[in-house]
Amino acid sequence: MKLVFYGAGNMAHAIFTGIVNSKVIDSNDIYLTNRSNEDALKSYADELGVNYSYDDAALLKEADYVFLGTKPYDFDNLAERIKPYVTDSNKFISIMAGLPISYIREQLNTENPVARIMPNTNAHVGHSVTGISFSNNFDPKSKTEVDDLINSFGSAIEVSEDNLHQVTAITGSGPAFLYHVFEQYVTAGTRLGLEKSQVEESIRNLIIGTSKMIERSDLSMEQLRKNITSKGGTTQAGLNALSKYDLESVFEDCLRAAVDRSVELSNQDDD
Ligand SMILES: NC(=O)c1ccc[n+]([C@@H]2O[C@H](COP(=O)([O-])OP(=O)(O)OC[C@H]3O[C@@H](n4cnc5c(N)ncnc54)[C@H](OP(=O)(O)O)[C@@H]3O)[C@@H](O)[C@H]2O)c1
Repeated sequence: MKLVFYGAGNMAHAIFTGIVNSKVIDSNDIYLTNRSNEDALKSYADELGVNYSYDDAALLKEADYVFLGTKPYDFDNLAERIKPYVTDSNKFISIMAGLPISYIREQLNTENPVARIMPNTNAHVGHSVTGISFSNNFDPKSKTEVDDLINSFGSAIEVSEDNLHQVTAITGSGPAFLYHVFEQYVTAGTRLGLEKSQVEESIRNLIIGTSKMIERSDLSMEQLRKNITSKGGTTQAGLNALSKYDLESVFEDCLRAAVDRSVELSNQDDD
């Protein structure tokens, strides 16, 4: 199977590194290209054993999956560049936020299968939660191949194209929301009188340990919480104080704002 990456930036790098490391595809079958930064391509080729080229006709010839990894506003230029060379074997996987499948096809002047994926930055550590949506001419075997590629840098959740907005909010932007919560936790922790560096270090390890508990346990998060909350104890006292605030509404506002912005951005791209 031949994979081509158009755009080898931050997110594409996390994805092709995950694919190479998982050995789901031989690195020799992966080709990178970008706009002009050849030094970046050369260093990825040296690091991972992948290929790079600026010869679009050769890149797209017999390419099975073509990742579209530019910024959304650079896609029109990319489409102009590659549309004369698109072949019937090319199935496209867009990582660009907000650009609808219909728009991608129109710009590339093709009816070939197109999938959109919405990864998150945890792809860098092989733990992206990636939303995926397929055009309806994606055959089941190809869907499985794409799932395998995505699972190599985390996990996949298939949704309708409309629901990618929700995935964008919940898991795409999710790492930033959680970092923000952790930042507040650190700030509050330092107010209790410990050294900031001690608090930061402790909370980093607290988050890592808690994530591993979630990963390794079959219990729900609710049950994990209940297991460490004794009646009348310190944890119960802290939770009682927390329950004075409507955290559910706080997060609902946050997620709804992110969904609304995602819809707004994709409508702008439609114009
Ligand atoms: N970062 C995230 O957390 C995240 C999460 C989900 C989705 N995304 C999506 O991922 C996409 C890429 O974001 P990024 O942060 O990885 O961007 P980035 O680091 O700026 O990388 C953009 C890449 O696109 C290349 N490029 C630009 N114009 C091109 C053209 N005409 N032909 C070929 N290559 C071209 C650039 O090449 P040069 O270096 O040569 O200019 C560069 O390799 C965006 O559409 C974004 O919506 C990002």
